[in-house]
Amino acid sequence: MSKHIGILTAGGDSPGLNAAIRAIGKSALATGEMHIVGFRDGFRGLMENRTMRLDRETLSSILTRGGTILGTSRDKPHKMLVGSELMDMTDVICENYKKHNLDVLICLGGGGTQKNAYRLAQKGLNIITLPKTIDNDVAMTDVTFGFHTAMEIATEAIDRLHSTAHSHHRIIVVEIMGHKAGWLALGAGVAGGADIILIPEIPYDLTSAANAIRKRQQRGTNFSIVAVAEGALSVADFKQLSRLKDKKAKMKENGDSKGLKKAEEALQQFSKARNGNTLRLSQELEKLTGLESRLTILGHYQRGGTPSAADRMLATRLGSACIDCIQSGKNSVMIAVDGNNTRCVPLEQVVGKKNLVPPDHPWVQAARNVGTCMGD
Ligand code: F6P
Repeated sequence: MSKHIGILTAGGDSPGLNAAIRAIGKSALATGEMHIVGFRDGFRGLMENRTMRLDRETLSSILTRGGTILGTSRDKPHKMLVGSELMDMTDVICENYKKHNLDVLICLGGGGTQKNAYRLAQKGLNIITLPKTIDNDVAMTDVTFGFHTAMEIATEAIDRLHSTAHSHHRIIVVEIMGHKAGWLALGAGVAGGADIILIPEIPYDLTSAANAIRKRQQRGTNFSIVAVAEGALSVADFKQLSRLKDKKAKMKENGDSKGLKKAEEALQQFSKARNGNTLRLSQELEKLTGLESRLTILGHYQRGGTPSAADRMLATRLGSACIDCIQSGKNSVMIAVDGNNTRCVPLEQVVGKKNLVPPDHPWVQAARNVGTCMGD
């Protein structure tokens, strides 16, 4: 019996998205009984009924391309900006799903997309997701596609920063993406031989970081590379953030809507005040060590360009497993990486969780063993 499959990419783009679209599309077409349609710009395209034909022609030559041929957005079905108003567009999305006679909608995305997709599944749509994000923070999968490429890019940046830091006898602080999870900063930091690695999961003490730099100076090494995740927190900030989060949870529990609003505002203010945090870190390290310091923010550079071979392979494995999963009649699942295999994990086990770096993770141990300061 013929099946109609829809596909969209949502959230921040990731290298490997096109490889996954290609794998899904080609595997679907190879069954001889599946029709596939792409929706542009994430859930917004599904709401606005903007589609892209996905056939042999459009699927060819995209394996090596960065970004996503479908386009992406961070729009949420239940809170979408329409005109100047945030509106719940879930019903329109469900209607469009029906209009296209879809049997399944495949959503490629990170933690936010998993949540949005799960909401649609709860409305009765057949949903399958794939885990993609350079942050590698989706729960219940060994790894997400996009992470490997971003780690390569950040590592290469650290390699290049080494020679200039060395020549000018400077500290170079390199800010690496990752608000909540430090996988990228940790992976690139270890692979690039950063002297100090600061990640959100291990609150840092500025004096420890400065002492590590001073120790290197005493040994006659007058440069240091500090790999810092954008969400890394000092011990004081970490405590403050925990207090604010606890307050929010308490207000929610007590059903105190006024208090909850206040607590949310306080959290927003806290994150606003953290803007420019890595620049301040660089300036403080300069003051404490007497070494000149510079900040490099890698930013979206880490998300762009050709996916690595590992990400192309991973995205192809997940994309093709996704079609096997549809054929076996499963839905409301994420196709997860499990060693050399893939497995279907029910979406309710994925949402509301994050894959953070355990402070005793082997990568952290390895960093410490080679003398890297983790800021604590
Ligand atoms: O997609 C994840 C991510 O790349 C984070 O690492 C980063 O903090 C964020 O997206 C940046 O988002 P945007 O592209 O919306 O600026």
